[in-house]
Amino acid sequence: MRTCIIGCGGMGGALVRGLAGRADFALSVYDRHADKVAVALGGASAKVAHNLKEAVQDSEVIVLCVKPHATVPLLREVARLCDPAALLVSVAAGVTLAAMAEAAPTARLSRAMPNTGAQVQKSTTAVVLGPRCDEAQDRPRAKMLFEAVGSCGFLTSEESLHAVIGLAGSGPAFVLALADAMLSAGVNLGLKREEARLYAAGAFTAAAALLEQTGKDPSALVAEITSPGGTTIEGLRALTEKNGADAIWSAVSAAAEKSRAMSKS
Ligand SMILES: NC(=O)c1ccc[n+]([C@@H]2O[C@H](COP(=O)([O-])OP(=O)(O)OC[C@H]3O[C@@H](n4cnc5c(N)ncnc54)[C@H](OP(=O)(O)O)[C@@H]3O)[C@@H](O)[C@H]2O)c1
Repeated sequence: MRTCIIGCGGMGGALVRGLAGRADFALSVYDRHADKVAVALGGASAKVAHNLKEAVQDSEVIVLCVKPHATVPLLREVARLCDPAALLVSVAAGVTLAAMAEAAPTARLSRAMPNTGAQVQKSTTAVVLGPRCDEAQDRPRAKMLFEAVGSCGFLTSEESLHAVIGLAGSGPAFVLALADAMLSAGVNLGLKREEARLYAAGAFTAAAALLEQTGKDPSALVAEITSPGGTTIEGLRALTEKNGADAIWSAVSAAAEKSRAMSKS
C-alpha cells in the first residue's frame, strides 16, 4: 500500500520505524527536518521526499503526524496536492473531524490514536472514519496500516477517542513512569541499575503477556499473585495507603480531559 508519513517526531518516527522495509508497503516519508527522517529510517529503505508535493502525490494513505496546532494548516495543503481518493489520517489529539473538514471539505478524512509502541509492532490503535470515507475501501486501508504496527480497532463515536488517548495514546508514558519508579526502588534496595532495569521490565512483560494471553480481568490476575500473608499483599497495602490506584486513575482522566479541552479550543 502506497503510504506517506508526514512528520517524524515521536509518533511519526515510531510509525516510520514500524513500517520501513516492509514489502507490503511503499513508504514515502517527509519532515521539514531531514535529519529526523534519517534517524527514523535508521538505514531502512523508503522514498525520502524533499517537499510535500513529492511526499503525497502518489499515496493512497497519508498520515499527518504533526502537533495538533500544525495539523489543520498542513491538512489544507495536503488536500490540495494529493489524490482526492487518498485516505487522510490525522493522529493529532484534540483536532476534530469537523475542524479538519473545514480545511479539507471534500477529502476522505479520518482520525487515529496510535502510540509509540508502533515502532515495535505493539501499538493498539483506535480509528474513527469520517463521513466522506468509503467504508469498503478506507476501512481495509486503515486496518492494514495500523495492523502492520500492532492491532487496530474502529470506534463509531469520535467522543470515545478522548478515553483512548488517556489509556493507549498517553498511557504508555504512565506505565513507563511506573517502571522508572520501580527501577529506582530496586536500585535503592541494592541492585545494580541494569539489574533493576531487567527485573522491572520483566514485571511489565509478564503482566502484559498475562493480560493479553489469558483474557482475564486484571483484578483476577492480581488475586492469583497475592498469596495469603505474603509479600505481594504487603506491597499492595502500601500502594493503597499511598493512593496508587487513585493516582493512575487521575493521570488517565487528566489526559482525556486535556484532549477534550483541546478539541473545544
Ligand atoms: N507521542 C505520542 O506518543 C503520541 C501518541 C498519539 C498521538 N500523538 C500525536 O502525534 C502528533 C505528533 O506528535 P509528536 O510528538 O510526534 O510531534 P513532533 O515531535 O513535533 O513531530 C512533528 C514533526 O513534524 C514536523 N512538521 C511540522 N509541520 C510540518 C510540515 N508542515 N511539514 C513537514 N514537517 C512538519 C515538525 O517540525 P517542527 O518541530 O519544526 O514543527 C516535527 O519534526 C501530535 O499531534 C500528537 O497529538 C502522539
